[in-house]
Amino acid sequence: MSAYELRDIEHVTIVGCGTAYYAGLLASYYLEQLVDDLTIDVVVASEFRYRSFHMPKRSVALIVSQSGETADTLACLREIKRRGVRTLGIVNAVGSTIAREVDGGIYVHAGPEISVASTKAFTSQVAAMTMFGVTLAQAKGTGLQKTAEFVDELSQLPNEIKKVIRTHQDEIKTIAKKYARYDHALFLGRDTLFPVAMEGALKLKEISYIQAEGYATGELKHGPLALIDDRFFELLLISEGWLFEKSISGLQEVKARGGHVIVVTNSSKQIDADVVIRLKTKLDTLAPIVLNVIQQLFAYYVAVARGNDVDQPRNLAKSVTVE
Ligand code: M6R
Repeated sequence: MSAYELRDIEHVTIVGCGTAYYAGLLASYYLEQLVDDLTIDVVVASEFRYRSFHMPKRSVALIVSQSGETADTLACLREIKRRGVRTLGIVNAVGSTIAREVDGGIYVHAGPEISVASTKAFTSQVAAMTMFGVTLAQAKGTGLQKTAEFVDELSQLPNEIKKVIRTHQDEIKTIAKKYARYDHALFLGRDTLFPVAMEGALKLKEISYIQAEGYATGELKHGPLALIDDRFFELLLISEGWLFEKSISGLQEVKARGGHVIVVTNSSKQIDADVVIRLKTKLDTLAPIVLNVIQQLFAYYVAVARGNDVDQPRNLAKSVTVE
């Protein structure tokens, strides 16, 4: 898209299923931070395709898919195009149906993703959509300082992920073995860590078969607190930022009900939980992507400890080409 066309965009709709949807949700927080006067919605493709949706004028739709063949996402793409709205693909599989049918887009070039559980695709999708946000912000001339911060963090991201995997692998393996005996799990996060919590829960349930739910920490009192008992563990994501104290009060609510809490954080502040995984990362805004990698490792080692086939979980296919 030309700078002129980008300047014209006032609304973005992000469409995806499963992990692609959560990647879109995380990216939407970043797009909001990057671009002033932009409205964004993020939709689950299997629902959106049947809704009587209206998209504002000057919209663009980001169609997010690793395989580029997901039936529900493809159906949304066609519905959106039928309404005359411009579509951009955020796709990994080169030459796939979605890649061919969108008006334009970005290949995330994550390389072939073999395992049913989507891992590197999530990271690359978030990075690609964030780069789209940076380009949009530059075209519109908004948030110049914020844009520079994002560019700086994006360039550090690959090394930070490598470093975190190297540093934390053994620690995560040991912790995962201990928690593999639980039947249920609650993943909690605020702000950008809310979509990450939902993605963490999806990854764990998919390959370990532990029933896992992702929730916004602020929603605890609205229902999930009732779940806490000895068959449950809670994984709480806490970032160093402005919502730190609010996240800690969520932690205290869970602890007061006898929860078994793992905290994953990039903060060095005192945190009282059963296990605290402290990430040392230079990243700030993009730290949630790195925290997500920790969750992926955790899900992987829990599944291994339970003797599951991590690459090919039961009942699932890599590409969901039928409804
Ligand atoms: O190929 P897609 O990105 O369109 O696939 C979407 C979902 O089916 C996919 O992300 C699914 O949720 C993963 N198995 C999750 O790990």
